[in-house]
Amino acid sequence: MADKLLVIEHDADTGGGIARYYRKKGWQVEVATSVEKARHYLLEDELNPHVIIADLGLPDGNILDYLEELHQQIDYSEWVFAIAADGDTDMERIDELAYDFLEKPFDQRRLDKVLKRALRASQTTRRLQSYSAADTKRYQLDAYVGNSEAVRTLKDMLRRLAEVPISTMIITGETGTGKGLAARIIHHTGLRKNGPLVELNCAALPRDLIESELFGHEAGAFTGAKSRHRGLLEQADGGTLFLDEIGDMDIDLQTKLLKAIEDRRLRRLGSEREITVDAQIIAATGINLEQAAAEGRFREDLYHRLSVFCVTLPPLRERKDDLVEMLPSIVAEYNAKANKHVEIVPDEVWEKLLSYGWPGNVRELRNVIERCVLLSSGEEFPIRWLQLEENCTPGSAKAMGAGASRDTITIQLDGSMSLDAMDSHIIQTALQLNSYNIAETARVLGTTRETLRYRIQKYDLQTS
Ligand SMILES: Nc1ncnc2c1ncn2[C@@H]1O[C@H](COP(=O)(O)OP(=O)(O)OP(=O)(O)O)[C@@H](O)[C@H]1O
Ligand SMILES: [Mg+2]
Repeated sequence: MADKLLVIEHDADTGGGIARYYRKKGWQVEVATSVEKARHYLLEDELNPHVIIADLGLPDGNILDYLEELHQQIDYSEWVFAIAADGDTDMERIDELAYDFLEKPFDQRRLDKVLKRALRASQTTRRLQSYSAADTKRYQLDAYVGNSEAVRTLKDMLRRLAEVPISTMIITGETGTGKGLAARIIHHTGLRKNGPLVELNCAALPRDLIESELFGHEAGAFTGAKSRHRGLLEQADGGTLFLDEIGDMDIDLQTKLLKAIEDRRLRRLGSEREITVDAQIIAATGINLEQAAAEGRFREDLYHRLSVFCVTLPPLRERKDDLVEMLPSIVAEYNAKANKHVEIVPDEVWEKLLSYGWPGNVRELRNVIERCVLLSSGEEFPIRWLQLEENCTPGSAKAMGAGASRDTITIQLDGSMSLDAMDSHIIQTALQLNSYNIAETARVLGTTRETLRYRIQKYDLQTS
């Protein structure tokens, strides 16, 4: 389908010129020389243009006066206004409603550039809107699988939240417990379900980028800000802003966010003007915010503001009953994806699944099942690919409060691990971190290859 452009221009020659130019470039273009004709194309013909270039001096009125009405009734379009350089145009309205504007006379190159960006913005929004319709079906309460006491209580809470206006709320829980999933369910079942759901991971970007992503900016607000950018808060207007990993947000930005939440207004970077926004905020975090606030790493007032509604997701080890429901649904999902036929789950598999601590919660469960189904050859769930006992069964290193990152190993000194268990855990982790390269592992452990080989044998460690 061609990209569609509506040119609203009182001068038929000028309009015709623009139309010819863009038709050659493959656009479907219509020209309206009055407000009435523009309304006809938009409302009766349902042209649904991606971009509308609009001249303001039309013989029968000002198109700006109809914008709100049109906005309700047409598919998503980006508006670009052509304005007289010396005219007394209502710039405030244009700033609010338009994608961009061009001062007359403008050259073709400038129009090309603006149109290209406006088209991209319009296509993106349309795609997001259609995803969102599919998501509404997908993210109902049933999407959160489980029927244990803990999950029933949680779902009851989610059901109540769906019926009340929420301005801010927080979801907490360990990694992989479904915070992202719960946020989507809350949006898609709640009062804001017809509005957009916009997401930002506060841990994924540097501070300055988070700020300009959240609040938006004007062209030239900082080096590299080529054009105007609507911030995520503004994009979430009427819907939900999901702030994932809020515990990692810079503390100054927290101040700015709190102010925007309380005033329901914000200012794009580099702009004088305040914009009103009405978005519900769902924040999620895996860290203990109360403690972070007590230690001065998180703003206490923002914490209180967010925690008016608080949902805490139970870890999988506290609701192992749910495995009975989860396992079949995840196995079926990967059976379908990989054209596999796993139908029988032996008792030994169940025993292993039920005795394991699941530090990575549902995400880990999904990964383990994915591996087993993909490597299966037949109807039986293959126990040999479970590989749960290595480091992580209860009583092993991980369950006993040991962890690792790129070049650090943490071990809790609370008596839960013997010296030998620590030794074995350190060596196994170092091997993993160094892709089982013996020379490199020996180097980071400050020992010789001989000693390392000896201990690998002694503890019967994995070497690949
Ligand atoms: N109760 C559940 N029912 C079905 N799927 C679930 C459930 N909980 C989590 N999942 C799935 O597990 C995976 C991990 O969940 P999600 O990403 O929401 O976790 P998270 O709490 O945001 O983790 P992190 O803190 O690491 O970001 C996702 O694929 C999610 O759909
Ligand atoms: Mg998450």
